[in-house]
Amino acid sequence: MVRNNAPDVVMPTCTPPTLLKGQKALITGANSGIGRGIALAMGQAGADVVVNYVADEGAAHEVAAEVKATGSNAIAIKADVSKEDQVEAMFKTMFDEFGTIDILVNNAGLQRDAAFDEMTLADWQFVLDVNLTGQFLCAREAVREFKRRGVVSEVSCAAGKIICISSVHEVIPWAGHANYAASKGGIMLLMKSLAQETAPYRIRVNSIGPGAIRTPINRGAWATSEAMERLLTLIPYNRIGETADIGRAAAWLASDQADYVNGTTLFIDGGMTLYPGFATGG
Ligand code: BGC
Repeated sequence: MVRNNAPDVVMPTCTPPTLLKGQKALITGANSGIGRGIALAMGQAGADVVVNYVADEGAAHEVAAEVKATGSNAIAIKADVSKEDQVEAMFKTMFDEFGTIDILVNNAGLQRDAAFDEMTLADWQFVLDVNLTGQFLCAREAVREFKRRGVVSEVSCAAGKIICISSVHEVIPWAGHANYAASKGGIMLLMKSLAQETAPYRIRVNSIGPGAIRTPINRGAWATSEAMERLLTLIPYNRIGETADIGRAAAWLASDQADYVNGTTLFIDGGMTLYPGFATGG
């Protein structure tokens, strides 16, 4: 039998509308990229969504409108996740509007790339502050509310779910990106330590480790055909990821379908973490 080993990609776009029915989700950095993809997928799955943003208010309101078009409720809230007072104010606004939180997606993150000996302390600090401290501050507020409220069995078998958006670079070293890779490695043990500590309260904490997903953060890696060709040598599955790939998985991971999944990283990377260089070498 002749098999076509490069079939057309058929991308499923929808998530079952009842997966997260009645749940309240906060997604940080949801005005673009992976955060937007997760906000749309969670809205489609029936969750009401807070679209957090720090810049580009217009885009955040557009995402909220797109979520509303799925039939779920949505509001946009501005907050810098690296600032304690802004994070506390954001959660307060969410509780005033939606009553509580069931799902936190710690997605906000950025890169400030530089050769190691040229990296400034400001480059280092900025990335650690947003990518790692931001996840700590938001997770702390969520855990406080999950513990206060406990399980509401009509809503979910868990008291709360946290999804940390990490990266393949929590395990793949990345020259020229030491600050970013250090932040993602830090997220891995933040996530696991928190999962261990809060599991007895029926709080589930997991990470998603995306590979190369077509978003503005890595435009340079896919925007030209030469760059795309180079990128695909790192991806055994031979296509770039789309934000919907991450959105669908996040909706599932936050749902009761994944109730026994705790303290793990789900890599969604087309096999980038499989050491593709070894497919023919070694
Ligand atoms: C980075 C992207 C990169 C991808 C794969 C992500 O975490 O933000 O810039 O393309 O990892 O290397």
